[in-house]
Amino acid sequence: MKIALTGTPGTGKTSVAKILKEKYRVVSLNDFKDLRLYYDEPRDTYVVDIEKMKKEVDKIEDKEPVIIEGHYSQDMNVDLVIVLRCHPDELKNRLKKRGYGEMKIMENVEAEAMDIITEECLSKFPDEKVYEIDTTSRTPEETADAVEKIIRGEGKEFHKRISYLEEILKWY
Ligand SMILES: Nc1ncnc2c1ncn2[C@@H]1O[C@H](COP(=O)(O)OP(=O)(O)O)[C@@H](O)[C@H]1O
Ligand SMILES: [Mg+2]
Repeated sequence: MKIALTGTPGTGKTSVAKILKEKYRVVSLNDFKDLRLYYDEPRDTYVVDIEKMKKEVDKIEDKEPVIIEGHYSQDMNVDLVIVLRCHPDELKNRLKKRGYGEMKIMENVEAEAMDIITEECLSKFPDEKVYEIDTTSRTPEETADAVEKIIRGEGKEFHKRISYLEEILKWY
C-alpha cells in the first residue's frame, strides 16, 4: 500500500514524515532532485517531471505500507491520500519563520485558504480515499499519530472535510 502525504508548503509534511520514518518506509519526493526540469524563478520553485516521477514511484515495492511525502504525491499512483491542512493565519506565521518572501507566502496562504490540494485530491480519488488532518493545533507528533491511525484503517474521523474558504472573506 502506498500512502500520499501531501499539503500546501508549511503544513508540516516533512516534519511529520521524519517522525513516521521510525516506523514506516518513507519516500520524500523532494529527494528526486534529478527529476527537476527547471527552476521557476518568479515562483521560487522547481518544476519537476511528474511522469518520470510516477514511474520511479511505481517501482517502489509496497507489500508493507510506504509513505510518499511531498506536494506532488497525490499525482502518483497511491492507494490513499492524506492532506495536511493548516489555518491560513498560522500557515503565514510558519512560512514567515521559514524565511519565505512575501509573494511566496501569499501564494501558499491563498492556496491553503482555497482548499486547492484537497479539491485536487477529491477530483482524482474517491471520497473515502481522501483524509485530512488539521495541523493548526496539533504538534508534528500528534499529526504523525493521526497518520498512523489512518494507515491502520481507524481514521474515519479524518474524512471530515476541512475548509478555510470563509477565511478569505475576512481579508476584504
Ligand atoms: N504541527 C506543527 N505545528 C507547528 N509548527 C509546525 C508543525 N509542523 C511543521 N511545523 C513547522 O512549520 C515549518 C514547515 O514545516 P515542514 O515540515 O517543512 O512543512 P512542509 O514539508 O509541508 O513544507 C517548519 O518550520 C516546522 O517546524
Ligand atoms: Mg517539505
